[in-house]
Amino acid sequence: MDSIIVTGGGPLKGDIPIAGAKNACLTLMPATLLSDEPLTLTNAPRLSDIRTMSTLLESLGAEVSPLSDGLVLAMSSHALNGARADYDIVRKMRASILVLGPLLARLGEAVVSLPGGCAIGARPVDLHLKALEALGADLDLRDGYVHAKAPSGGLRGGDVEFPFVSVGATENALMAATLARGTTRLKNAAQEPEIVDLADCLRAMGAQISGDGTDTIEIQGVDRMHGATHRVVTDRIELGTYMLAPLIAGGEVTCLGGRRDLLSAFCDKIEAAGGSVTESPEGLTVTRANGPIQAVDVETEPFPGFPTDLQAQMMALLCTAEGTSMLEEKIFENRFMHAPELIRMGAQIDVHGGTATVTGVERLRGAQVMATDLRASVSLILAGLAAEGETRVGRVYHLDRGYEHVVRKLSAVGAKIERVRDDE
Ligand code: UD1
Repeated sequence: MDSIIVTGGGPLKGDIPIAGAKNACLTLMPATLLSDEPLTLTNAPRLSDIRTMSTLLESLGAEVSPLSDGLVLAMSSHALNGARADYDIVRKMRASILVLGPLLARLGEAVVSLPGGCAIGARPVDLHLKALEALGADLDLRDGYVHAKAPSGGLRGGDVEFPFVSVGATENALMAATLARGTTRLKNAAQEPEIVDLADCLRAMGAQISGDGTDTIEIQGVDRMHGATHRVVTDRIELGTYMLAPLIAGGEVTCLGGRRDLLSAFCDKIEAAGGSVTESPEGLTVTRANGPIQAVDVETEPFPGFPTDLQAQMMALLCTAEGTSMLEEKIFENRFMHAPELIRMGAQIDVHGGTATVTGVERLRGAQVMATDLRASVSLILAGLAAEGETRVGRVYHLDRGYEHVVRKLSAVGAKIERVRDDE
């Protein structure tokens, strides 16, 4: 296993290119199952989660090219050899459940293992299943698998009203509805940029969709979908993560490809904390405005609110802010596992249920810490950028799921960071 060693130090300066979005790519890839013609994604990120999704699609009979240097991922589901997604692959990544809707829509049946994924809460898939039932699917949960069957004429359009917002359930229903007979309305749908990106790709494949980016999406089913080429949207979570680096370590960083509309609630918060964000055609440039970072209160919410996937990184910033900040996690019930690790670095954090109270300290101290999930791991690296001495972050395989070339990107702007094998 590998660790990352960060030595806290001077200000950062330079550009960081932001990759295509992992979360968008993980829903765009299963969309290939909807058509027997090729789907090509450009700007795909080089991440282990993407390789896991490739393995899953290949197990279903799809052909998936290795990601080329130009970040092109070419897929074809011309000849699927089955509709069974096995536990061995699905358990590695929760997003695997996203093959369920497309398989059911194209083949009329699917058997998909219930998923695993990050240990940040119970994360059931009941909303995915209810949405597919509203499209006529007959579902049976047996032996840890969802056994799904469409009615004899295929899925039919229907009204789905989600009791609360779910990104994945919206994506699964959206994909399934493209090939259902008639009209589907998804109410209280997720509005995340990754949903809009999926809808753009599905439209390029022939789907009829309107309302994406609002809370009601309408889909008029079509008889067949065709091939397309689609560019994956910028990763707003990677973007927000690197925007925090110069606020924590000092300096000025331009995140190439960044757009404020992808992260407006987050930008508002870091400006309230004393950061300055400037948008240009190149991307977003971030610097510390005047003096130290100030405490701010943050509540995570579905888009367009503050993203839960940036809560851990924001906490790393607030650990050295002036004053006391409250961080309320409203999406996942167990998403403060980074707090004890930050405390090992000298942070003052009290967690009560879904709220963390962070009292800023003057300086964090380097320590040996452990990555517990994807976003937690990068928050520890960010904290290490400003800590006194050396921070060694273990179990960085979590990081490889969501951040490509983290060492290269941060070194390029002057951070002292290296990846080592644990026996070194
Ligand atoms: C996606 C993102 C993840 C992000 C999350 C919230 C991907 C691959 N992952 O995850 O990075 O943190 O959105 O922005 O895109 N829930 C249910 N029943 C369901 C589905 C969800 O109770 O059937 C709950 C979840 O436990 C959670 C909440 O709904 O508490 C929101 O989850 P959801 O939006 O579905 O997240 P994911 O799609 O899994």
